[in-house]
Amino acid sequence: MKQVLVIGSEGQLGTEIKDRCTKLSDLQFTFTSLETLDVTDTQELTATIRSKAYSYIVNCTAYTAVDKAESEQELARKINTVAVEKIGEAAKSIGAKVIHVSTDYVFDGKNHFPYKEEAQTSAQSVYGETKLEGEKRLLNANPDSVIIRTSWLYSAHGNNFVKTMIRLGLERDELGVIYDQIGTPTYAGDLADAILHIIESDYKLQFPFTAGIYHYSNEGVASWYDFTLAILEKMNISCKVKAIETKDYPTPAPRPHYSVLNKSKIKAVYNIEIPYWRDSLDVCLSKMK
Ligand SMILES: NC(=O)c1ccc[n+]([C@@H]2O[C@H](COP(=O)([O-])OP(=O)(O)OC[C@H]3O[C@@H](n4cnc5c(N)ncnc54)[C@H](OP(=O)(O)O)[C@@H]3O)[C@@H](O)[C@H]2O)c1
Repeated sequence: MKQVLVIGSEGQLGTEIKDRCTKLSDLQFTFTSLETLDVTDTQELTATIRSKAYSYIVNCTAYTAVDKAESEQELARKINTVAVEKIGEAAKSIGAKVIHVSTDYVFDGKNHFPYKEEAQTSAQSVYGETKLEGEKRLLNANPDSVIIRTSWLYSAHGNNFVKTMIRLGLERDELGVIYDQIGTPTYAGDLADAILHIIESDYKLQFPFTAGIYHYSNEGVASWYDFTLAILEKMNISCKVKAIETKDYPTPAPRPHYSVLNKSKIKAVYNIEIPYWRDSLDVCLSKMK
């Protein structure tokens, strides 16, 4: 039986993987959380990876507080860059394949058409820079790695934009939400399915593990304003939503104005079907209800 290690299993993505992994009976999963494995302890991280004959390592850890990262650069780098490199090194030493997750924030957002994997990167924030450097170091340490860049992740677990909008929508009569940042919301459950599909189709010899960078988000395009209207409408929350500009909502870390990802590569290589973001939002909201 193949062994899979999932690191950072209490976050949005990690929890979705944990919820789904029981369907894969030929794989044995081990999960770690911040409590059981702090990835900034690189000795412990290496020892954990080397403790079993893992075939696959899935890294769901990240320093994801985008604004806070501007003032906590050192910690963001330890988690998003250094630990990722160490995961690559330790995985290589035992011949394990790595699946790691990165972000649309590696781009500057000046495109007007969906970003392909080979598009020029130019991170605008500490979070984006540390994630981008993590990608590079991982591929250098262990070329047998798949890196999936995703965007606007939400789920029924943890804190995210969907939950914040539901809470604010119930508390207030009116909300101002940005309409000049365009991207695609992604349900973490769909990303978890894609990751498990990549592992399953590799060990079942259907679609071999093909290393490199991939883009995955749900299908379609939205602004935060459109996303908010859809959330409130589906939840029957009657709060007025005003469309505001990025300049009216200043944040410590700049956000890309446009970060739609082109997903042709992952669909072609792994034969993955990607749900439309509104359909996935329905799935997540019914879970939350
Ligand atoms: N969230 C988004 O909108 C978004 C967008 C694009 C890409 N991504 C990427 O998608 C991936 C998954 O994101 P997510 O939303 O699932 O993130 P998340 O919910 O913030 O989960 C990250 C997990 O990492 C854990 N962690 C933090 N520091 C750690 C450490 N030193 N040692 C061990 N574990 C640590 C966190 O533990 P605690 O919760 O206990 O701190 C949490 O369980 C990440 O790579 C992220 O960069 C996310």
